[in-house]
Amino acid sequence: MTVKKITWKSLMLSCYNSKDIISPSDSGEKDSKPCQFQRLSMSDVSDRSSPLSVDDLSTSLLGSNLHVFTFAELRLITHNFARCNLLGEGGFGPVYKGFIDDKLRPGLKAQPVAVKALDLYGLQGHREWLAEIIFLGQLRHPHLVKLIGYCYEEDNRVLVYEYMPRGSLENQLFRRYSAPLPWSARMKIALAAAKGLAFLHEADKPVIFRDFKSSNILLDSDYNCKLSDFGLAKDGPEGEQTHVTTRVMGTQGYAAPEYIMTGHLTTMSDVYSFGVVLLELLTGKRSVDNSRPGREQSLVEWARPLLRDPKKLDKLIDARLERQFSNKGAQKVAALAYKCLSHQPKPRPSMGDVVKILDSVQGFEDEFVGPFVYVVPNETDGDKELFTTKDCGVEKHELHRCGWRNDQIASFFGS
Ligand SMILES: Nc1ncnc2c1ncn2[C@@H]1O[C@H](COP(=O)(O)OP(=O)(O)OP(=O)(O)O)[C@@H](O)[C@H]1O
Ligand SMILES: [Mg+2]
Repeated sequence: MTVKKITWKSLMLSCYNSKDIISPSDSGEKDSKPCQFQRLSMSDVSDRSSPLSVDDLSTSLLGSNLHVFTFAELRLITHNFARCNLLGEGGFGPVYKGFIDDKLRPGLKAQPVAVKALDLYGLQGHREWLAEIIFLGQLRHPHLVKLIGYCYEEDNRVLVYEYMPRGSLENQLFRRYSAPLPWSARMKIALAAAKGLAFLHEADKPVIFRDFKSSNILLDSDYNCKLSDFGLAKDGPEGEQTHVTTRVMGTQGYAAPEYIMTGHLTTMSDVYSFGVVLLELLTGKRSVDNSRPGREQSLVEWARPLLRDPKKLDKLIDARLERQFSNKGAQKVAALAYKCLSHQPKPRPSMGDVVKILDSVQGFEDEFVGPFVYVVPNETDGDKELFTTKDCGVEKHELHRCGWRNDQIASFFGS
């Protein structure tokens, strides 16, 4: 099969001619379609026979409105990459908070930004930097982080993103000394992240994210979530192809088993990783934790048998939620996670189906069924007394589960 290549010239022409190019003011909620011209792929830039080089990026991605910053500008907006502005550090390098004022660039509004600088001696490199620009420069969606621009100057490779005030889901979910992330926020995040992945998988030229994990899900102050880090993203299989073959890359604990074994990458690899994050949201546990005993170190191995059995939900759900969750919703989500985590890719649902299921569990009515229920056997008449921290929200089926007879339940509910 011959894969149609885009030439530098055709791309330039289509950029100039297209009426549908996204403008900066268009980049709000409605931007769920990539630029209407054919999307530039990684191979157009990394393929040596291609006339397109990285120096041409600023013009070739013209329709994307990415700003090309000088290193001096980035130094200015981050106070010389001050330590106190450091937001975090991953495989790519350190991430700093910066502030763009309205005088920096005409047409660029004043706003806080996150500035990610490539660590030349780090795990990632020029290719990941380029992938981020190629993908995020062209794909716009409410649940993908917005790339504002980049810097390419001598050895410096920097990326400038919109600033997400709550940082990553990883920080929010596993932070020790703070209130736990509420159930409704967890479900909102799961749905939004699923929509982001579904958008990538359903694009005209599908994209496989390849590094879906809680640290790559960023949150704003209302728990709106956006996917970040396209450094490992890959164009999906085209035409007759069933998969793309790649070097195995990604993060331990999130990568699909068949991908690790064969290097064959499909959109279903992302669905598996999504299942792992869903499990993290349900349990409040990290996908891999070497401080846990033996088999529990791998979250998936530990949780798989529990996911299958709705009666074991209590063992699975994050204890920090103190039963403040929807029982029905959690059962549905556990069943969904189980499907996403199938050993074989075939039985896994598509991300489109995942979105539908997660949509149906938002704001479930039996939310917060569980005040603390403590049942004490009464020695004199064998009856049971129920102590609750609140007098509301106990459901009949829960009393059944506690061994109450129908007449006792009826009198408890005053009927
Ligand atoms: N746009 C952003 N807004 C706010 N904080 C951000 C933004 N991007 C990244 N961060 C912060 O910087 C941290 C590091 O992010 P980065 O993506 O470089 O690494 P990571 O996801 O933790 O690891 P990995 O390199 O494996 O992806 C994040 O955990 C987050 O707290
Ligand atoms: Mg990341």
